[in-house]
Amino acid sequence: MALIDWTGEFSVGIKSLDEQHQNLVEIINKFDEARRRGKGSKVMGQILNEILGYTQEHFAFEEKLLEKTDFPGRKLHQSQHRQLLQKVERLQHDFLNEDRRITAETSELFDYWLTSHILKHDKEYSEHLQKSAVEV
Ligand SMILES: [Fe+2]
Repeated sequence: MALIDWTGEFSVGIKSLDEQHQNLVEIINKFDEARRRGKGSKVMGQILNEILGYTQEHFAFEEKLLEKTDFPGRKLHQSQHRQLLQKVERLQHDFLNEDRRITAETSELFDYWLTSHILKHDKEYSEHLQKSAVEV
């Protein structure tokens, strides 16, 4: 069973962003599956890198869109992204330097980390972006 099931409630109504969010769900599910299968630190480290890299890419894309459409809450949204990235960076740092084990809690953290951001904060720009006549 997958850690996160993508459902319509996650949709922000913008195809490109929904696709990117689905990709993130997939990478996090891959991380959880590898953890449950007891994969070693090399594989777990690679997937952590993948989560970090894709998140950076996705946040940059989203922020550019909020900038282009003059979303009033874009500065706040940017700082929320920075905090989210710091959490993954810290997790990766601890994993690499303190040989911290990946546990079920780490998966739960990623689950909450992504879904609460989409449901609480990404939803806030949904109407604004759908009304904007910008090519996304
Ligand atoms: Fe966001």
